Amino acid sequence: YDLQNCSTFRLPARAAHFCVLDDAARLPEICALPEFDRQTVLWLGGGSNILFTRDYRGLVVKIANKGIRVLSEQGNTVLVEAQAGEVWHDFVLHTVREGWCGLENLSLIPGTVGAAPVQNIGAYGVEVKDCIDHVHCFDLATQKFVRLGREACAFAYRESLFKQAGKGRYVIVSVVFALKRDFCPNAGYGDLAAVLAQRCGTRAPTAADVSEAVCAIRRSKLPDPDDTGNVGSFYKNPIVDKARADDLRQRFGDMPVYPQPDGTVKLAAGWLIDRCGLKGRQIGGAAVHDRQALVLVNRGGAGAADVLALSALVCETVRERFGVVLVPEPNIL
Ligand code: EPU
Repeated sequence: YDLQNCSTFRLPARAAHFCVLDDAARLPEICALPEFDRQTVLWLGGGSNILFTRDYRGLVVKIANKGIRVLSEQGNTVLVEAQAGEVWHDFVLHTVREGWCGLENLSLIPGTVGAAPVQNIGAYGVEVKDCIDHVHCFDLATQKFVRLGREACAFAYRESLFKQAGKGRYVIVSVVFALKRDFCPNAGYGDLAAVLAQRCGTRAPTAADVSEAVCAIRRSKLPDPDDTGNVGSFYKNPIVDKARADDLRQRFGDMPVYPQPDGTVKLAAGWLIDRCGLKGRQIGGAAVHDRQALVLVNRGGAGAADVLALSALVCETVRERFGVVLVPEPNIL
């Protein structure tokens, strides 16, 4: 089975076995297939955070169950369940249209609802964990459906239970969001405030305004995966201790720093890469994006070796110049 169009970076690869899950109730059936092996099965969403660097020997299951429904509405809070296979951005637009607030800053992030909790997607000052009430999963260890509350999901910056202790154990089948009827804008992040002010003037912004502003900013900086293969940020923003950040700030006065509640400091990987003069650097068909150095793109015909060589060059250059180690964000298989 050809996997090239199953990942938004579109590296050539094939899978030995492939099937589509359109109803979560069929999970036990999939687990009983002769080609199923819990150690090697790959649960695939929109493919926007995965890189296939070689053929996949096991079974790939594309998660495609759909549906959005309101579970309850109490006072200001609406509990909404979305099935894992829903397209993330379409779901966000649906919530904005219905007047359910909280996800608007996460507009236009590629991928599916079920993938969102795995790496706790985040943008413009909001992380998806802020709006998650609980997650429904199929537990492969016990072959039972379970409900995991927000605390159990152990969310952190681009991290969760599903990437750590629960890796390979839980298949996310739906996510329940606690959204608000009253709109409380979260517009503090970087250029969002400025773009909103320009769009709305003195009028108070609505959730739809925020969604449109976020889409405009993302479209201006980030390549559209439909035109140019990419997986969004290729690296996590590195987190260093305060002494390290102070030292770097002394040497590079204009370096952006984001102090964290626990005293550590998050740095901007895109800035570090940009400062090394790597924007536009190309190896084979893989290149550092011209407008956002944090993103690697497929300029056409990129092979796995091109991407891996380019990423090694980026990491090595940043390490030499700043002494900071970059960690790739996508799942590299
Ligand atoms: N910067 C540069 N040059 C670049 C890129 C960035 O100088 O080429 C500077 C910017 O000027 C800014 C700082 O670095 O001062 C941070 O850049 P930006 O606001 O664009 O955000 P980011 O840190 O590059 C993160 C997320 C994005 C998310 C944006 C907005 C990570 C790994 N990435 O990017 O998420 O959209 O913030 O909140 O945390 C993703 O995860 O795939 C993703 C796109």
